[in-house]
Parts: sequence; structure tokens; C-alpha cells
Amino acid sequence: MAAVLQDSLQVELFDAPLGAEVIGLDLNRPLSQRDFQRIHKAHLDHHLLVFRGQRISPQQQVDFSRRFGPLQIHVLRNFQLPSHPEVLIISNIIEDGKPVGLGDAGHFWHSDLSYKEAPSLGSMLHAQELPAEGGDTLFANMHLAHDTLPAALRNAVQGLRAEHSYLAQYEELRRRSPFRPALTQAQIDEVRPVLHPVVRTHPETGRKALFVSEHFTTRIVGLAEAESRALLAELFAHSVKPEHVYRHRWQPHDMVFWDNRSLMHLAAGTPDHLRRKLYRTTIEGDVPF
Ligand code: SIN
Repeated sequence: MAAVLQDSLQVELFDAPLGAEVIGLDLNRPLSQRDFQRIHKAHLDHHLLVFRGQRISPQQQVDFSRRFGPLQIHVLRNFQLPSHPEVLIISNIIEDGKPVGLGDAGHFWHSDLSYKEAPSLGSMLHAQELPAEGGDTLFANMHLAHDTLPAALRNAVQGLRAEHSYLAQYEELRRRSPFRPALTQAQIDEVRPVLHPVVRTHPETGRKALFVSEHFTTRIVGLAEAESRALLAELFAHSVKPEHVYRHRWQPHDMVFWDNRSLMHLAAGTPDHLRRKLYRTTIEGDVPF
């Protein structure tokens, strides 16, 4: 289905529970306010937008990202692009024994920076180097996940709050891969656990979404540990049912822009011997309610 935005811009919906491709936009050219508004609306409507073949610089990615809000700096400063601290390098490449980027960034399902008081509005991921096989990214529609919960469970989770912690899986990831340095006390202080509603309301569309993830959510406030663990496991399993998920198969120079208030994502994995590198910018959002 193609919805014509203007003479040249088109939004083509994916045959999936989320996502659309924006055709006819070249991010090398200045973005008019009118096009910006159309992209903004398409982003709210479809939660994930793909802009194919964008041969743009990190500065252009930063400039485009900033149109949507202030950018967030990741706590792992060692994976910043030196010239652009707002750009987080996601990569499985090891050079001279040192990781080039955060290779295990999407190992568990998550919404970016949900462990912050003000988590991310959305993220942009720009493909730099892609493997010949693997390397896909999966996205789950958390509005659908909420709306399709059995009614009794949907009612039961309204008003609950959950703790999110950057450290929840950190040691587990450290054990598995070379990408996680030991954190300094200053870094630990920067990512103190926070509480967020289990069901959040999208600040721009008013739609409800589940807002818990296997990566960062540690417990549901006020429930006994076993009950909290069981409920979270049920919510995680429901969230990522195939009918809620879109699989992005990367093409060269893809720029993908998703809504962290509506979606969770997961890196499906890349064979170790194949190189993968992407640049991520993360836009700050509101305090969830
Ligand atoms: C991320 O979680 O931001 C990275 C996702 C990916 O590498 O596909």
C-alpha cells in the first residue's frame, strides 16, 4: 500500500505488524519543515521507518536525529564515535584485540535507555558495514502486545510499576562477550535503577503500550519475587510473539528510525567471522506515564 506524502515522498507500509519505507527522501538535501512533519507523522503511525540507500555522514545523521529532540550520550563512552560523542558504534569487529563498538547491544529484547528517568523517544541506526549473512534486527510492536493481552491480565497490569536497571544483564553479557568493560563508580551512579509504569501511554498518540523488557526490567514493584518473575516472563513471551514482530533485513546504507515508546528490538546475531558495523543516535523522550 503506498500513501503519497507529496510530489516525491512516499510511505510504503510493510506487510508486517509495524514499519514502513519512506521513498524519495535524500538526507543529503535540506529537510523542509513540511517533509519533517510528514516523516514525524509516519513515524507515529508506523513506529519504524526505513530510509534506503542514505549515503550520509555522522554529522548528517546527528543533524537529522536532532530534529526530533535532544540526543542522549550512552554510558559506555568507549564506543562513542570520537568525532561525534552522540554516535554510539554498534559493531562486532575486533581490531588489534580491541572491540570497535558495542557488539552485543541488542542481545536481549529491550527499548533503548529504558533504564533512564527519561528514556529514549526513538533511535536511528545507520548501516556502515553489513555481513553477507545474519545481522538482522527484530522489532516488536508493544501497542499490539498490550492490546492483545487477555483481558484479565491487561486489567491486572494497569497501574503497576516496574524497576529498570542498566545493570540487570550487564555481568551476564560481560561473561559472554568481550564488549563490556568493568564500569566505574561514576558510570554506575549515572545509571541508577528507575521505576516506570508497566503500561505506558504514548505521549504523542495516547496509545497504550507494554513497557517491560527482558534486558532491563528487574522486578514489578509490590509483588513477591516469584510472582514478579512469573508475570514478567509471561509479559515478555507475549510481547515477542511472531504476530507482533517485524524482521529488518539490512541493505547497504539503510537508515532505520524507530519509536522506543512503541517498540522493543533485538539483534538477531551475526556470525563472529563476518563484520557488522552500524552507527546509532538516540533521541531523548519524556518521562513515561
Ligand atoms: C541496538 O540494540 O541498538 C542494536 C541493534 C542491532 O545491532 O541490530
